[in-house]
Amino acid sequence: MDKKQAKNKIEQLRKDLEKHNYLYYVLSRPVISDYEYDMMMEELIRLEKEYPQFRDPNSPSQRVGGDITKEFKTVRHKYPMLSLSNTYSKEEVIDFDKRVKKVIQGDLEYVCELKFDGVAISLTYENGLLLRAVTRGDGMQGDDVTTNIKTINSIPLKLQENGYPDEFEIRGEVYYPHEGFARLNEEREKNGEPPFANPRNAASGTIKMQDSSIVAKRPLDCFLYNIASDELNTKTHYENLQNARNWGFRTSPYVVKVRNIDAIFDFINEWDKNRAELPYDIDGVVIKVNDLSQQQALGFTAKSPRWAIAYKFKAEKASTRLKSISYYVGRTGAVTPVANMEPVLLAGTIVKRASLHNADIMEKLDVRTGDTVFVEKGGEIIPKIVDVDLDKRPAGAEKTKFIKNCPECGTTLIRKEGEAAHYCPNEEGCPPQIKGKIEHFISRKAMDIDSLGEGKIELLYDRGLIRNAADLYDMKYEQLIGLEKVYPADTEKKERKVSFRDKTVRNILKGIEASKETAFEKVLYALGIRYVGETVAKKLAQHFKSMDRLMEASYEELVAVDEIGERIAGALIAYFKSEEHLEMIQRLREKGLQFEIREDKPGVKNTLEGKSFVISGSFENISRNELKNLIELHGGKNTGSVSGNTNYIIAGDNMGPSKRKKAEELGIPLISLDDFKKMIEK
Ligand code: IVH
Repeated sequence: MDKKQAKNKIEQLRKDLEKHNYLYYVLSRPVISDYEYDMMMEELIRLEKEYPQFRDPNSPSQRVGGDITKEFKTVRHKYPMLSLSNTYSKEEVIDFDKRVKKVIQGDLEYVCELKFDGVAISLTYENGLLLRAVTRGDGMQGDDVTTNIKTINSIPLKLQENGYPDEFEIRGEVYYPHEGFARLNEEREKNGEPPFANPRNAASGTIKMQDSSIVAKRPLDCFLYNIASDELNTKTHYENLQNARNWGFRTSPYVVKVRNIDAIFDFINEWDKNRAELPYDIDGVVIKVNDLSQQQALGFTAKSPRWAIAYKFKAEKASTRLKSISYYVGRTGAVTPVANMEPVLLAGTIVKRASLHNADIMEKLDVRTGDTVFVEKGGEIIPKIVDVDLDKRPAGAEKTKFIKNCPECGTTLIRKEGEAAHYCPNEEGCPPQIKGKIEHFISRKAMDIDSLGEGKIELLYDRGLIRNAADLYDMKYEQLIGLEKVYPADTEKKERKVSFRDKTVRNILKGIEASKETAFEKVLYALGIRYVGETVAKKLAQHFKSMDRLMEASYEELVAVDEIGERIAGALIAYFKSEEHLEMIQRLREKGLQFEIREDKPGVKNTLEGKSFVISGSFENISRNELKNLIELHGGKNTGSVSGNTNYIIAGDNMGPSKRKKAEELGIPLISLDDFKKMIEK
């Protein structure tokens, strides 16, 4: 294939892929198989690699991600991104209609739409190409998240047909579909990461991720609902939506034009009832004046347009019977009351349990066993009881008394000044606290011993093999082989049956041994000292450099550290006062865990000291992460975006054109991977 043929082939593939993308993701009417699509994509990626001169930032190959953004650039919106005035009341919708009619005499039509519960995004297109995608931010300026947005398959990188303005912005909502959301959270829990509370948080977390290849693997989607441009020659909002669809955008299939308030209420009622069946979250409906010149006549308040209103649905509520209340003890000893209820369908899932939070909230609700209660899904994962139906209270229902003793070890519970939770103070002897601390110790962000899990820890605890983290390092093959435990069918644990066969035991011991190399800051986090989360542990490790110096630090020295306050300092002092803790730390030290931060490896010189690098594009034999590590190992700094402080750009294949342009403007040298290697070998 010569250059000309390659260019033609690349262009053809791009056009075909974009068309199939539209058929599949926007119209849900694919005409080729996934396999054929993948093959075309593979060929395109191969050709683009072979002929980098034909690189195009809007090629469908960009959808697989790969670029890393260290810091998102702030961009001012050409048209401010306003919000809508919200209401939960139908009277206010009637008032809205009256206000509109005061200004607009004569023919009036509304468009009713769904209000998608996601993250607002503004896309700018120039000459039919996606130029930029920016989050709402504060409404005046937001973050440039283009690289991540390009991975959303239903967002066109190149528009179809003609008739679009040379320059325009189109706005919509990026959301996380239910199915993908459930999978994502399952995955996160498996990895010991905290689950997202709801799909909206998952969407906003995902579009702000630094690694676009991870974003590409998540099934984000987007509906577009508003065009902003100085060059529109349409008359209505509805027409705009239809045009948008023809240009290749995904717009909602549930948009209706109505002419009176009853029809608005029909739409509201229909979707309040049916929203649970949609594969994504909506939190209301939006009512907009259809005619664009009427919209203009109505204008804006400081915050929102006068031509639109959002009617928000009340959180979904269900009523069911409270069977009993259980109390759970966590790793910190905090006791959480949980309601066990007759199963009930709520917002698409069956709910059996609800959090009762603490004694104060229970008291306020005056919730009693046998009561009929109302449950609601709020912002959190676990639904909560919001009310009790007193009319249905069974005769003789007894007032609930919060337990006085720990349900696990019997110790009298305490309640600390100013805290809502009850605690079991028996830190060293209460089983869920002991197990919880060891589970925290092995978790991914701590020592990351992934050959152990909740079920295995419980088995080891039951057999008396472990009472604290240091015991893990004493375990021997002979003690473990053959151990087995089957958990009851309704267990909350992920592993139902745990049995220690040869391979399992070897893996466990290997994982424990390998954990001895875990960096000091993670060891510190793994100890589970109150208020010492990942970030605090990192700060402390960087400041004190070793466990010894941290343990010797006085209260004054601790609070003098940036971001360490009285609460954390107090917790550290208390932790290091305990004989048990000191003994465990001593044993961990003897086992060879990292108790100080590792200085540079011997032989490695800080050859790149004071130099700042930007990595752009991809490299054949080294990942961007490895390259970044190399820069840092040699004392250099790696940043995400080109600025006046950048000394070199390491340029790989498919380097972004904006970076190239900026580098040229600022006169920053582009170097190859080989040039870089020579620098560090010097
Ligand atoms: S129109 C001038 N239409 O709700 C405002 N917004 O508080 C133009 N939203 O920030 C927005 N679905 O993120 C519009 N069909 C829809 C919408 C919608 C969701 C979001 C949007 C906006 C917020 C309003």
